[in-house]
Amino acid sequence: MATSLSITSATADPALLDLPWQLPLDEWPDEYIAALPKGISRHLVRFAHLSGHVIAIKETTDEMAKREYEMLRTLQRLDVPCVDPLAVITNRTDASGDPLNSVLVTRHLKFSLPYRALFSQQLRPDTATRLVDALAVLLVRLHVIGFFWGDVSLSNTLFRRDAGAFAAYLVDAETGQLYDGLSNGQRENDLEIARVNIAGELMDLEAGGRVDEELDPITVSNGIVAAYRSLWKELTGAESFNSSERWRINERVDRLNDLGFDIEELAIKTTEGGTTVRIQPKVVDAGHHQRRLLRLTGLDAQENQARRLLNDLDSYTAKYGRKGYDEEMVAHEWLAKVFEPVIRAIPRDLRGKLEPAEVFHQLLEHRWFMSQDQSRDVPLAEALSSYIDTVLRHRRDEATVIDPPTGTFTLPIPTQGGDDAGEAADWRLTV
Ligand SMILES: Nc1ncnc2c1ncn2[C@@H]1O[C@H](COP(=O)(O)OP(=O)(O)OP(=O)(O)O)[C@@H](O)[C@H]1O
Ligand SMILES: [Mg+2]
Repeated sequence: MATSLSITSATADPALLDLPWQLPLDEWPDEYIAALPKGISRHLVRFAHLSGHVIAIKETTDEMAKREYEMLRTLQRLDVPCVDPLAVITNRTDASGDPLNSVLVTRHLKFSLPYRALFSQQLRPDTATRLVDALAVLLVRLHVIGFFWGDVSLSNTLFRRDAGAFAAYLVDAETGQLYDGLSNGQRENDLEIARVNIAGELMDLEAGGRVDEELDPITVSNGIVAAYRSLWKELTGAESFNSSERWRINERVDRLNDLGFDIEELAIKTTEGGTTVRIQPKVVDAGHHQRRLLRLTGLDAQENQARRLLNDLDSYTAKYGRKGYDEEMVAHEWLAKVFEPVIRAIPRDLRGKLEPAEVFHQLLEHRWFMSQDQSRDVPLAEALSSYIDTVLRHRRDEATVIDPPTGTFTLPIPTQGGDDAGEAADWRLTV
């Protein structure tokens, strides 16, 4: 009997008790299970419905479930993009009293996709590069806070669209360790793990005929090393210059902001004679545009989406002569007159396709292409109806996939313009 079941959870949802914990996870009836695309893993992971949400359940050992739960909680507190831990369930027994594995429960990350579900037939080199770039940003962020991952790979990462790029989230923290700071050796170690794992994952895809012939797994996987190093250097490197070039301090700060990072502290040192200045950004934090957008509008978007939305806000400010007005007031006006009407105009049945901020970004892009094509300024409303009919309608849902049968399923969708539109054609689903 499941009387001794023990649930550890910060935000205990009583509905957790209604799930069939007395059954091994692979025997749970379909009614509980949410069929969503999932990455490859050693442990059994399944998605289930809970109070109108979807949760991910991983069967593992007691010790590992507890450890990963605590680690994910710490990472969440440190603002690292990762899955949200909900509970650890131990002391499971089946109907005859035999012990069952403990589980880690995390919230399913909405609109996220494992890399294998991000494309349809074949992975293109530019998509692969964008995945690797996103993973490099995540790895740098983890290293900045002193987290050694130990198992960096595409399979241990979830991706969300971010205005033409991707944002990467850590999904598997099992092997991770948090230190006061990482040595160069530790960072290099993680980077090497990343390179080797990514090369292996891409070669696997290649063996299955799932990569474009232009894609070279070695070149792409080496790309993470280059992307990581340049970002790390920009974020943490010291810089010396002549004291007459003090503007270079601002330049450095601007560059970091453009990359989406904020500086918590900048150490500035001058030499004895005051001839040279040396600066060293101390602690950097990602999400510069994200935070600004949140502060101004209350919208919670990804970094590149936020940058895109803020650009549109800037052009609104210029176009309607709002320069010099209170920034928050203008932002509120833009939200009410531009952003919200667009989102409200999306037919209800199409709302699960993409996140609102991503829809808005794609709409701006669509309008730009239309305007180029027709050599005129296409009004937003006109671009919107064209976007809904020719692009959005033909995408597959990314919020959730509603109760498809198990196994592989095919969405017979025509491919239409746009970036990764081809991905909508066919994809594999593991349940
Ligand atoms: N909260 C979540 N939201 C979305 N997907 C999830 C979530 N948790 C797990 N997954 C999916 O399940 C897969 C396996 O999870 P995870 O990597 O934690 O398992 P694992 O068995 O520890 O993996 P490994 O083989 O690397 O040890 C992930 O790749 C991801 O696709
Ligand atoms: Mg994993």
